[in-house]
Amino acid sequence: MRTIIVDTYEDLSLVAARLVGDAIGEKPDLVLGLPTGRTPVGFYAALVQLYRQGRVDFSRVVTFNLDEYYPMDPRDPRSFHAFMQKHLLEHVNVPWDHVHIPDGRAPEPEQACAEYEHQLARAGGIDLLVLGIGHNGHIGFNEPGAPRQGRTGPVRLAHETIQANFGSVGPGVPRFALSMGIGTILESRKILLLASGQDKASITRRALLGPVTPDVPASFLQLHPSLTVILDRGAAAYWPAS
Ligand code: GLP
Repeated sequence: MRTIIVDTYEDLSLVAARLVGDAIGEKPDLVLGLPTGRTPVGFYAALVQLYRQGRVDFSRVVTFNLDEYYPMDPRDPRSFHAFMQKHLLEHVNVPWDHVHIPDGRAPEPEQACAEYEHQLARAGGIDLLVLGIGHNGHIGFNEPGAPRQGRTGPVRLAHETIQANFGSVGPGVPRFALSMGIGTILESRKILLLASGQDKASITRRALLGPVTPDVPASFLQLHPSLTVILDRGAAAYWPAS
């Protein structure tokens, strides 16, 4: 594991965008796995900047998002489809048919997830996967207890995840998601994990320096041979001094 500790959230966003930009420079048809959440917002903004400066070209890049709520209409502003449009896709030149996001409207979610895995396999697998981490250690929507070998499929959201993402558990709030599994995630050739803020300091330490256990799904990342972690000062608050 390579750990990069930076001062601020802005630094984290910039360093992450540069790493991804460099990866696209080296392999213009990069298969890029992408997250949602508050953490990557600055990363996407920095990536859009690099694109506007002519330093990154997405014309051959293929993207696969980690997850989507279920059920969820892609036009719903709370959807991860809408998030990706707003923060990245409408600003850069990724061709529409290169973009993959699980379909929150799929009538047969298991089948849709199996097809997602096939699309990923046909694309040659993920070259570089960018990840955030949930407060309970989830990655994608692999909540505590998720199996190490898990593939893309429908998952039940933890109560705390619904609370964190929607403010409350109520009518019209999705209780499920379609998410890449931990097995799918670990097959990525490279993984870049971003964690920002002191509220992530304890789970980040537990996940990356504690025992590998399904209780903390992100701890499985320790098994990955090419993991880079970027922490800002807040998230690194409990990181041992080097
Ligand atoms: C979400 C996503 C994850 C994300 C996590 C943390 O719900 N499914 O991919 O990493 O929760 O989100 P945030 O960055 O907002 O803390």
